Amino acid sequence: MTNKITRREWLVGTTAAASGLALSSAASARTLMNAGKPISKDNPIRYTNNENPYGINPKALKVMNEARNKAHLYQFRTRRNLEAIVAKMENVPIECIASGAGSTEFLMATGAICGFNGGNVVAPDPTYGSITRYVERFGGTVTRVPVGEDMAISLDAMRKAVRADTQIVYLCNPNNPIPTIIEKNALTAFCLEMSKKAMVVIDEAYFEYAGDDDYASMVSLAVENPNILVIRTASKIHAFASIRIGFAFGNPDTIKSLRRFSAMTASYPAMMGAIVSYQDKEYQKFVIDKNNESLEILYKMFEDLGRKYIRSNSNFTYFHAGHDAMDVYNKLLESGCQVGRQYKPYTDWVRISTAKPEEMHYLVEVYKREFG
Ligand SMILES: Cc1ncc(COP(=O)(O)O)c(C=O)c1O
Repeated sequence: MTNKITRREWLVGTTAAASGLALSSAASARTLMNAGKPISKDNPIRYTNNENPYGINPKALKVMNEARNKAHLYQFRTRRNLEAIVAKMENVPIECIASGAGSTEFLMATGAICGFNGGNVVAPDPTYGSITRYVERFGGTVTRVPVGEDMAISLDAMRKAVRADTQIVYLCNPNNPIPTIIEKNALTAFCLEMSKKAMVVIDEAYFEYAGDDDYASMVSLAVENPNILVIRTASKIHAFASIRIGFAFGNPDTIKSLRRFSAMTASYPAMMGAIVSYQDKEYQKFVIDKNNESLEILYKMFEDLGRKYIRSNSNFTYFHAGHDAMDVYNKLLESGCQVGRQYKPYTDWVRISTAKPEEMHYLVEVYKREFG
């Protein structure tokens, strides 16, 4: 492969996924198409929204397709079935789970309650901006706590930032856009301490990808403590970003309060698909293995180029490009590669979400050509 490769030579896409092919070499990728069309600025490969490039589990899709035929009827029981199945998988009582149309529903509800009450949310910076946005939108205030020099969330700094009017302490674990994790024992102690002062909301959108021994979900802590809430999404490993399913885990009283804000928002096809997708561990393992393969391709590029980067516990990574992130974004887009936008204050760092391994090879070629 030379640096002169053009984007038209890299027609990467859905055929490989459908046939289960794992293309690792640049040469084989050239024969494929992206959604039936050549890769271009207007039809880019997405390395940008932390999505699952393989799409929804085919077994779930089949069930969702069939569910369309009953989508005109109210399906009250399906929501309870889905919640019962996921609660059992998480080993928590059914009263401790709520489902909705994506996790934003729960981030919005908690953020809005805090905002209405004129409360304050303490959140790391940078982090996922949903809850802080709703707190501000509904009249509350946000205290942003810069991540430490190691770019990980600093629990000490978060602790110090909590004030008398703080109603929510938000943690995203693994964090986004910097995919660091918080060590499990330190996090447990922090949650227990902070829950005496405020509601601790832990966003575990990427927890399925976190393979580090130091990582642990806080679901079991949340079900015992009325001031700890865990929020999860089906948008990532389950690829439900548009069809929408999300969950909240907490103490029965907390979940009861949350339920007042969410009523039958998830559609029948989405719930039926989730029932299949959550139980199919094989497909999830496939996605995780592919994600790891893709991350390794990126790490190798960062090593080759001597670039600093964050080893990921997610389906994206963050690296020091040494160029303005928006310049990198625009330059790569010309070759049909859409990477993450800029996140302040790290103006010359770039977030890259994983795509299929063959698509990562294409990104590496383009990146090395433009910035290597
Ligand atoms: C940390 C985090 N939480 C929540 C979401 C949104 O999830 P949903 O699609 O379930 O609303 C995202 C999406 O990127 C995210 O990164």
